[in-house]
Amino acid sequence: MRFDVLTLFPEMINEACSHSIMKRALDSDVIEVNAITPRDYTLDKHKKVDDTPYGGGAGMVLMAQPYVDAYESIEKQDNSITLMMTPQGETFDNNMGRKLAKYDQIIILCGHYEGFDERIRDIIQPKEVSIGDFVLTGGELPALCVIDSVSRKLDGTLGKQESMEYDSFEDGLLEYPQYTKPREYRGLEVPEVLLNGNHALINEYRKEQQLIRTKQRRPDLYEKYIKDTKD
Ligand code: ADE
Repeated sequence: MRFDVLTLFPEMINEACSHSIMKRALDSDVIEVNAITPRDYTLDKHKKVDDTPYGGGAGMVLMAQPYVDAYESIEKQDNSITLMMTPQGETFDNNMGRKLAKYDQIIILCGHYEGFDERIRDIIQPKEVSIGDFVLTGGELPALCVIDSVSRKLDGTLGKQESMEYDSFEDGLLEYPQYTKPREYRGLEVPEVLLNGNHALINEYRKEQQLIRTKQRRPDLYEKYIKDTKD
């Protein structure tokens, strides 16, 4: 999977991908991350990427030319999708991540501080994606959320130890509670069932915990799960 990220802050993308599981996915060529800055595609000597809005109003607007030229410089693969990170987009979730993981290339446009000139949308026609109903200073963190979450789903990213099978949402439920050593901490004991080595019982306990948690914390997911498992 190749991620091409258009951003005014390429170091934010490169830095965040250079640790832990993301670094390992890069080192083992499961993913490739290429940050491109529209600033390198400006035609004026001041490398201007934004300007004041026509019609007036606060803030600056990202200019179409540097973004479109930077976008057009990217070599497109056959099985490719282009996203634009914006609070106006469809909300990202695990299902969207699963669909995105089927592509060979994801191109991501990030804004920063300001909006995009509408002609960037007209020409590139990206799928607009939000990570939630709040506004961040730029699209880099949202882009990284998508890159991280999609990368987890690719064969070879997670080791056996980190299997995604039990991740929250993978089976439509939240994760069950986990414990590690010691058996007792500040008077709090690890549930007995986890200590007896009976895997059928352990699985039953964990499933029950998933259902309790999901019902309490995310009744919407719980209802959907019950409906889907009935069908
Ligand atoms: N850019 C700024 N805020 C955002 C959000 N919530 N989702 C995606 N991109 C954004």
